[in-house]
Amino acid sequence: MKSIEDLSDLNQKKILLRLDLNVPLKDGKIEDTTRIDKVLPTIKYLLKNNAKILILSHVGRPKGKVVNGLSLKPICNFIKQKINININLITKNLKKINSKDLFIKDEKIIMFENIRFHKEEEENNNDFAKHISNLGDMFVNDAFSCSHRNHSSICQIPKFIPSYSGLQLNSELHALKKLTSNIQKPITCIIGGSKISTKINIIKNLIPKFDNIIIVGGMGNNIIKYKGFEIGKSIIEKNCSELVGEIFNLSKKKNCKIYFPEDVLVGKNLNDSSKIKLLKDVSLNEMILDIGPNTIKTIKNTINASKTILWNGPAGYFENSNFSKGSYEIGKEIAKKTKEQKIYSVVGGGDTIKLINQINLFNNYNFVSTAGGAFLEYLEGKNLPGIKALN
Ligand code: 3PG
Repeated sequence: MKSIEDLSDLNQKKILLRLDLNVPLKDGKIEDTTRIDKVLPTIKYLLKNNAKILILSHVGRPKGKVVNGLSLKPICNFIKQKINININLITKNLKKINSKDLFIKDEKIIMFENIRFHKEEEENNNDFAKHISNLGDMFVNDAFSCSHRNHSSICQIPKFIPSYSGLQLNSELHALKKLTSNIQKPITCIIGGSKISTKINIIKNLIPKFDNIIIVGGMGNNIIKYKGFEIGKSIIEKNCSELVGEIFNLSKKKNCKIYFPEDVLVGKNLNDSSKIKLLKDVSLNEMILDIGPNTIKTIKNTINASKTILWNGPAGYFENSNFSKGSYEIGKEIAKKTKEQKIYSVVGGGDTIKLINQINLFNNYNFVSTAGGAFLEYLEGKNLPGIKALN
């Protein structure tokens, strides 16, 4: 894999730069800028070397349609302010743009509107990628956190033009490689969050590599249901009971202990106040929105008995402070043990980053990855399609 640092001449070269600007947005405002801050060095590096930059990114999951709330506009404005250079956000249909339409005013950077407004992106469409690749001279992937997706702007563009890794992708890969080659046992992986479908399939492959897997958040609901308890209106991935059964069978064979919530916090809706409940007491009209005090205690004990902790995904709906305690307590305990040098910790994922920033602990872990699903798939030992494409 070649890196942009291997390029000797970037002068006036048009660089198609795939970034992961998928940051949390609320009412058009960015709630956490970490993913943007992390790619600024790559943008600055390209500018310093007189390259012309064409930024490609997605935000959210608009599913091939234009969704106004998922425009890259606020993100474009934020980057403009940060680097103090004008950036032209191109809202015209990407499929109708030709290279002669671009850089007419001698701009240094342009940004295309959310690439997932085009259904071809998630279809991994070859023609779409070919068209985009005609707009640049080279391609740079600096979106490690999207490199597990078989999407057009990640996997197809490198087929058409010389392609390189960006600085942030290099640093993520370097840290994860170091971690996986030097890992100290016992290893505990804490998995939560709401992207159940991305993560639940990964757990089976993680079992042989870990001593403990703690499953919280949306996936925890799948386990609770499998164990025969009511989960009311909680989020869940359908048709997963066979898979959950396999997870438990394999964990016994491989000596990996699976933990899931013993008690929970429930509400009638996302804006409600919280009530502590034992699993047997959750009712039909309630949603499980956080882990309860007994579960927090068990998780803290497990963290204390581990040498390495990997954490990806919050334990509950921390956007409502009534349901943030479980995630905050996990974040604080891992940070404390890291500071005492009792554990090596790696934390990852967009929501997890937002959460550790909320409690001011971002700099209290050994490594923070911007990636969620990609981070887990890398740990699984998978050759990520976006990295494979660069090779
Ligand atoms: C992420 O947030 O993990 C990446 O931006 C990928 O987003 P996705 O899960 O919607 O593909």
